[in-house]
Amino acid sequence: MRNLTQDNITQAVLARLADTPDPRLKEIMTSLVQHLHSFAREVKLTEGEWMRGIEFLTRTGQMCDANRQEFILLSDTLGLSMLTVAMNNDKPAGCTEATVFGPFYVEGAPGVDLGGDVANGAAGVPCEVRGQVRGLDGEPVAGAELHVWQADADGKYDVQRPGQAHQARGVLHAARDGRFHFRSILAEAYPIPDDGPVGDMLKATKRHPWRPAHLHFMVKAPGYETLTTHVFRNGDAYLDSDAVFGVRQSLVADWVRQPDGRYLVEYDFVLNPVKAGA
Ligand code: BEZ
Ligand code: FE
Repeated sequence: MRNLTQDNITQAVLARLADTPDPRLKEIMTSLVQHLHSFAREVKLTEGEWMRGIEFLTRTGQMCDANRQEFILLSDTLGLSMLTVAMNNDKPAGCTEATVFGPFYVEGAPGVDLGGDVANGAAGVPCEVRGQVRGLDGEPVAGAELHVWQADADGKYDVQRPGQAHQARGVLHAARDGRFHFRSILAEAYPIPDDGPVGDMLKATKRHPWRPAHLHFMVKAPGYETLTTHVFRNGDAYLDSDAVFGVRQSLVADWVRQPDGRYLVEYDFVLNPVKAGA
């Protein structure tokens, strides 16, 4: 096809996708092309603007390495991560809600005994975390696997400190009654990394990079859907303006200061059973 115009180029590109063997890929590519072309038409995109967009995406890719995932930050700050989480985690009432995974989970975190300390020397005010893992009918989930990770008092995850051993992260197993408890440090608000292109985008749009204080959890057990979520600290100034749109009211808990200066937070997780045949 020659002499394509701004009025027929979209149809020409869509026709070129006609032989895509994977029907889902065909559906996604078709919609992507339609929306990208509509976007360019709607904003009357100039060549200079699109070149700036390409440079932004190039810098985003170049910023990524084993410890820095700028594309996840971009997806999170555009609300795309949370939209995807919301669309794919429509659980029955009573189940714990899911929220964003974020870029700071790592495989191979150390195992921690019940009652153990996941902080492993991370800076912060001592804190105890307690709760129970149950299924939707209230049954305790014996031995549920809990992955926990959090930032330290300086707002940094261990993976943001080159050469740092695992700190403030671990994997533990609930007891037979589904109960768990472990020691860690007080969750504090922190800014997402904003020294790259995503930070430039936030500044250009007068947005702040802060996340309200939270603990990350991933809870797994046979027969149940894996739950990826946070527990947010009540009273945090950023609960209503999370840079990545992840806050759900049902995930907000009180961190209560104890007489000895430690904090205690209690939170129960309710898992969604896997449907028969799923
Ligand atoms: C986090 O909570 O670890 C996180 C989530 C999204 C972007 C950056 C950090
Ligand atoms: Fe976090």
